[in-house]
Amino acid sequence: MARVVSDPTRVPFGRLPGFVRTSVEGHDGCFVLGRVGGVEVLVQSGRLHLYEGAEPDAVAAPVRVGRRLGAEMLIVTNAVGGIRCDLHPGGIVLVEDHLNLMFRPVLTVPPLEGEAPFPDLGRPYDPGLMALAKSIAREMDIELPLGVYGAVAGPSFETPAEVRALAAAGADVVGMSTVPEVTVARAGGQRVLALSVVTNWAAGLAVGPISHADTLHHAEEGGRVLATLLTRLVGALPAGAPATGAERSG
Ligand code: HPA
Repeated sequence: MARVVSDPTRVPFGRLPGFVRTSVEGHDGCFVLGRVGGVEVLVQSGRLHLYEGAEPDAVAAPVRVGRRLGAEMLIVTNAVGGIRCDLHPGGIVLVEDHLNLMFRPVLTVPPLEGEAPFPDLGRPYDPGLMALAKSIAREMDIELPLGVYGAVAGPSFETPAEVRALAAAGADVVGMSTVPEVTVARAGGQRVLALSVVTNWAAGLAVGPISHADTLHHAEEGGRVLATLLTRLVGALPAGAPATGAERSG
């Protein structure tokens, strides 16, 4: 997404006091401020993950920066393993709900100013933004199936038994990010949209091992389509609706 921002100003996370640099290959770490269409955006390129040993507060810090700067919505992208049989590598999924199977609290206690202590996650993903994404996908003639995101802590990929358990629990895709950021955004009252690029079949669903190199390859492929979709989507937002975006990664 960072590549479609006009008049970009890059701020590497390493230059921001209190920000921790991400350590994963392919996960650049910086903010890019600028415009997409007529809309002001703060793009978070790269993210921290709980599996890097980061505290949930550090993972969600960019979301809080966005909120303080006036971002009314958060658009999250991520990479996932496909569990449902129609969600194949290279495809994009519109996240309709999630399962937090990271097994740790992701909110600050006591809550930070402006955040609900027990946020309602009855509708974590905004129906209006989802409808807009759907209509843009139709215009682009691309499939945008809905799916439930199963969030695990990682960093190992799942075992086949875990993937069967995730499927039985209702997950359509599995990933290692997103839930901390979405939870903090909802606690702070932001509208949220999340889109996943399927980078591999989840464990046990394809022949051969899953590799980080393969996930990067399919992330690139799906990421190009996703960047077009998001550019059009942000350009179609009502004026005066600043957005933050978290770039696709694990
Ligand atoms: N599992 C968990 N996270 C992932 C996967 C996966 O198969 N692919 C990309 N991120």
